Amino acid sequence: MMYKIAVIPGDGIGKEVMEACLNVLDTLDLNLNYEFGEAGDECLKEYGVALPKETINIVKNSDACLFGAVGESAADVIVKLRHVLNLYANLRPVKSYPGTNALFDDLDFIIVRENTEGMYVGEEEYTDDGAIAKRIITRHASERICDFAFKYARDNKKKVTGVHKANVLKKTDGLFKKVFYEVSDKYNDIESEDYHVDATAMYLLTRPQSFDVIVTTNLFGDILSDEGAGLVGGLGLIPSGNIGENNALFEPVHGSAPDIAGKGLANPTAMLLSAVMMLKYLNEQENAELLNNAILDTLKEGKYLTSDMGGKSSTMEMANQIKNKLL
Ligand code: NAI
Ligand code: MG
Repeated sequence: MMYKIAVIPGDGIGKEVMEACLNVLDTLDLNLNYEFGEAGDECLKEYGVALPKETINIVKNSDACLFGAVGESAADVIVKLRHVLNLYANLRPVKSYPGTNALFDDLDFIIVRENTEGMYVGEEEYTDDGAIAKRIITRHASERICDFAFKYARDNKKKVTGVHKANVLKKTDGLFKKVFYEVSDKYNDIESEDYHVDATAMYLLTRPQSFDVIVTTNLFGDILSDEGAGLVGGLGLIPSGNIGENNALFEPVHGSAPDIAGKGLANPTAMLLSAVMMLKYLNEQENAELLNNAILDTLKEGKYLTSDMGGKSSTMEMANQIKNKLL
């Protein structure tokens, strides 16, 4: 089967990890037809627009999209793509792998982040003495994301934790919490619980093993997933999938990392694990498994790791090692 894959490398290490990823994907017995789209800071500089219409159309018409990372234009590119394509569920698995600098070696939970509203609706305005940002929570989007989380739990896990700040944000998060329990009533076989986001931030450090599926609003999900990355060895290891009704986009959780860009230091694992998520989404289970195992074997061996994991290899050296396992 032939798949149309939209590829948006972006800026900084986005380009580097994407090159490494495509180099590895070439080894699999797959018919991937890449269509490249420009977006990000460099695109803005060159064409005056951070996310050209053509790029949106390439993603719209694809079977799936691989996205590297962009820089300062993230709000106008990735946040906009999630809105425009209604990629409402952002899945961010947090998993410990052997061979990494994970603080905990026994973690396997997933953050399901609402991706279309909350604090990231982009409605900010200046006032005389500062600025105001709108935070929108709707019943529709809350129901949709909670339902997604419980369905995911039914297939893969046992418990869903709803995370909010309903004690202070009584109307917005009050609604999110209410809807969370309404949806949970439809899934009697799945355990449910809820916590405030600040307490959750602590529990993630004190007893992260107790989490299975966390469902939360946009900003909280963004913050908690970087905390999750910190628990298992850093942002170089966390992939993600942005899933909608008609489209899906897969990207590492990290950004363009200007501090290490251009030096070949970026860990390609998060990008490659995002490709694994994409292959699963495309129902290419066998290829997903092969790629996943090649990545895990390389981490476990520990000989070809990038410096964030304590190794000496470059992005491409590590990717080539993963590739060699697939030949
Ligand atoms: P960042 O994720 O780019 O970097 C945070 C830290 O993690 C840095 O120390 C970086 O060196 C390290 N890191 C990230 N990915 C790594 C990898 N693959 N291997 C090794 N180390 C890695 O986040 P930061 O610094 O907050 O933002 C930098 C730029 O990225 C900003 O312009 C921001 O707007 C953008 N950004 C874009 C995102 C996207 O395109 N989805 C997401 C997050 C940030
Ligand atoms: Mg983030």
